Amino acid sequence: MRAERRTVDESVTALAIGRLVLRDFRNYRTAEVTADGRPVVLWGPNGAGKTNLLEAISLFAPGRGLRGARLVDMDRRDGGPFRLEAWLVSRDGPREAATWHEPATDRRFVSLDGGPPRAPAELDELPGILWLTPSMDRLFGDAPAARRRFLDRLVLAHYPGHGRAAAAFERSLRERAQLLREPEADPLWLDALETRMAEQAVAVAAARLAFVRDLAAELRAAPTGFPALEPLLTGEVEQRLTATSALAVEEWLATTLRRARARDAELGGASAGPHRSDFGLRFLGSGEPVAATSTGQQKLALLAVLIAAVRLRQRLRGEAPLVLLDEVAAHLDAYRRAALFDLLVATGAQVWLSGTDSELFRPLVGRARIYRVCEARLDADD
Ligand SMILES: Nc1ncnc2c1ncn2[C@@H]1O[C@H](COP(=O)(O)OP(=O)(O)OP(=O)(O)O)[C@@H](O)[C@H]1O
Ligand SMILES: [Mg+2]
Repeated sequence: MRAERRTVDESVTALAIGRLVLRDFRNYRTAEVTADGRPVVLWGPNGAGKTNLLEAISLFAPGRGLRGARLVDMDRRDGGPFRLEAWLVSRDGPREAATWHEPATDRRFVSLDGGPPRAPAELDELPGILWLTPSMDRLFGDAPAARRRFLDRLVLAHYPGHGRAAAAFERSLRERAQLLREPEADPLWLDALETRMAEQAVAVAAARLAFVRDLAAELRAAPTGFPALEPLLTGEVEQRLTATSALAVEEWLATTLRRARARDAELGGASAGPHRSDFGLRFLGSGEPVAATSTGQQKLALLAVLIAAVRLRQRLRGEAPLVLLDEVAAHLDAYRRAALFDLLVATGAQVWLSGTDSELFRPLVGRARIYRVCEARLDADD
């Protein structure tokens, strides 16, 4: 059954996993975890399988999951290939989703509600899944590509078509780079490709722009314990879109690409497009870039963005995305941690949190499902 034929269940305000089954995934042979609408805490020693479980959940979104790992690396060593099944609660009613690795083709497939195997991009039919992981601590000091990925994941939770548009543009980029390496590339073929690229580029940039505008409004009102922020989207395509029509920007980009063929052939890549944009944050008031502050402050800023995105989605669509927070609590002082938990509970989102120390999650006792994870075993603690 497709989403458009479902009746909206107004009482559901967040996408949530009711039951999740893992088979031959990373260090899990078979495991099952059940949850209700409340936050879920996974605590246990290093190497227990906490991040692996969050990674499994992240595969119910389009893309390569929260580690960006290869499929073969997610198959259990000495076992595999992996298969994951989730029973979800959503505004479109209960949904069943499965995803698995097919080693013969080395592709990942998904199936929704017992339907035929499809590409992971089809998961954009579900409300999004957002996450923060320890590797994002360096996001603002990292290469712009990591920030674009972070931004695009947030945008995807709002504009389901964004993932496909971004993937189509990436494919066109690669196709053009390959054509430019050929000595006798057909200029007419390149013309057509660049026209298509310009359309895809404008779609990608327009979705980012619309999202960042909404995000800016949400980020101005900082929740207790969190900084008020201003998001910054820099990029020539985005900048032109704020000043002129989408059609004019498409024409400009197609012409720019045509003129840059020789240079792009020599240097590789494409000299203009949304793949060169960047996303940043600065503190409202002081104007200080978030990149210049402490690790803990950067983490708070990222959390503020994530919470703003969840609230935005709640407000605009009536349904919060699922949220995965890997080792987030450890970076925060006790006051910020308590404030974060209160905020998360208030969004109504199903948030999955991991950490090594149960003490960190004490303020959530009674308000969350708590699991102790040890050697790929999950034991309910509450
Ligand atoms: N494909 C795989 N097959 C079997 N085991 C794997 C596979 N990939 C990873 N592992 C193992 O899974 C274990 C758990 O990893 P995970 O990252 O989930 O731990 P964690 O509980 O998050 O620990 P930490 O607190 O250190 O972050 C690791 O010991 C790792 O070696
Ligand atoms: Mg971990």
